[in-house]
Amino acid sequence: MSLPYTQEMLDSVKKVEATREERMKTEPRRMTAEEKDDVLQKFHPDFKMEGFEQLQMGPNKGEKAPVELAALLQGKSRLSGKEVSLKDPDYDADVLIIGGGGAGCSAAIEAHQAGAKVMIVTKLRLGDANTMMAEGGIQAADKENDSPAQHYLDAMGGGHFANVPYLLQKLVTEGPEAVNWLDHLGVMFDKDEDGRMITTHGGGTSRKRMHAAKDYSGADIMRTLRDEVQNRGIQIVDFTSAVELIKDTEGKAAGAVLMNMETHEVQVARAKTVIIATGGAGRIHYQGFPTSNHYGATADGLVLAYRAGARLLYQDTLQYHPTGVAFPAQIFGALVTEKVRSMGAMFVNEKGDAYMHPLETRDVAAASVIRECKERGNGVHTPLGDGIWLDSPMIDLIHGKGMLEKRLPGMLRMFGKYDIDMREVPILIYPTLHYQNGGIRISADGMSDIENLYVAGEAVGGIHGRNRLMGNSLLDIIVFGRNAGQQAAAKSKNVKVADLTLDFVKEFEREEAAAGIESSLLSPLLLPDYRPENMKTI
Ligand code: FUM
Repeated sequence: MSLPYTQEMLDSVKKVEATREERMKTEPRRMTAEEKDDVLQKFHPDFKMEGFEQLQMGPNKGEKAPVELAALLQGKSRLSGKEVSLKDPDYDADVLIIGGGGAGCSAAIEAHQAGAKVMIVTKLRLGDANTMMAEGGIQAADKENDSPAQHYLDAMGGGHFANVPYLLQKLVTEGPEAVNWLDHLGVMFDKDEDGRMITTHGGGTSRKRMHAAKDYSGADIMRTLRDEVQNRGIQIVDFTSAVELIKDTEGKAAGAVLMNMETHEVQVARAKTVIIATGGAGRIHYQGFPTSNHYGATADGLVLAYRAGARLLYQDTLQYHPTGVAFPAQIFGALVTEKVRSMGAMFVNEKGDAYMHPLETRDVAAASVIRECKERGNGVHTPLGDGIWLDSPMIDLIHGKGMLEKRLPGMLRMFGKYDIDMREVPILIYPTLHYQNGGIRISADGMSDIENLYVAGEAVGGIHGRNRLMGNSLLDIIVFGRNAGQQAAAKSKNVKVADLTLDFVKEFEREEAAAGIESSLLSPLLLPDYRPENMKTI
């Protein structure tokens, strides 16, 4: 086994080792509010104006959006110039769920439980989703020294006080029940010998409320939800994407046009209610960042909803996880869970200095990593660019030998594959595109601006304000997924679908033409295209 670090990196590792004993005696101080504002404005990608443009049309016309998202929102419908017959639908459901991740499955389970005829359509396989990729844990205020009110204050502060109050209130008050539900369904949460949940801190939490299943919490949650969906016999149409919503002549959501991902055959699903649970957008690679997201994270739900007339909220704010892998190349941009820092690993620069507290909120931590590399010149040079050390050997020194392997086996294995034993040497990180803070605006019952169109999970905007805390995403997919399933099932009992129509797509095209937009970019994107430009016609 030979460590793949360059000589320059190895020289820096020596500096990290030289300061370790002294560093472990004192915690780095927290930044002041003014220092946080300063580093965010100067170094966070959300404040880089060239990364954004004004939307020219649609419900959020005049507002700022990332240039890549604006192009998709104002892109060309995949149905443009095609006639789709809506007369004899291929599928009929009470609740049509678009997306087969954690939010979609939670919604499906609850809607099915309520007696609705449920159908999930997913463009890859059930469970190919960001939920599967989540590592560090799920927050819930269920310990004696904690409360939903405390959780609310932490998330509100982390979100820059922009969180929609009624959504955040729902998230935190229903948190303990959500974790209990998962526990009963069979998620293998870390527990002590008395069977009590082990909880840790995340960035910006004032109490230890992170519940984890080692460092593959999302995979275990997804496994459990997927089993439950399959055991219930819920209808799953996989390798099929939704390419447009369908409305009825009363302007209510009434289904979706589907496209088989292999044959491109188009089908029609009619539904009394529709739930968008399409997840995030990391594969759009905003501002050229690598991503921790799964292959299908391309903001499809935002495009579908926007074209049908639903407003977005905070579409201009994204989360760059401070600790994406910066080296080696094979796992560049993959997630190094915040749990590594919860368990004590410090950010350390090239000189061996722990220049910031390891558990600042994510946006501040990411911006500080960027500043340390770009402005202060204290990044560690690698053949792939600069990075900052995460001093992972501290974990076993703090908690005892064997603890890193016990609590972070996924991380250990991921780096171990490339001959990096993170128990012995620090690992190198740099921010990676991780989460879409904004999304489709919803009301307390989970409905968008469009009657009978519900939204759950990462496609929702507003729950987390302008910056989400760790572990609140796994929580929101459960709380808002279940809620959307329950609400949609109840609503579907009283829905009579009128004639189906796609006229709103034509209307959108007219609005585009009037705004002088001539886009050839087909949207929703569905999957990223990593082929070189000169191969894209093949
Ligand atoms: O760092 C992490 O494990 C990520 C968690 C999250 O995004 O909630």
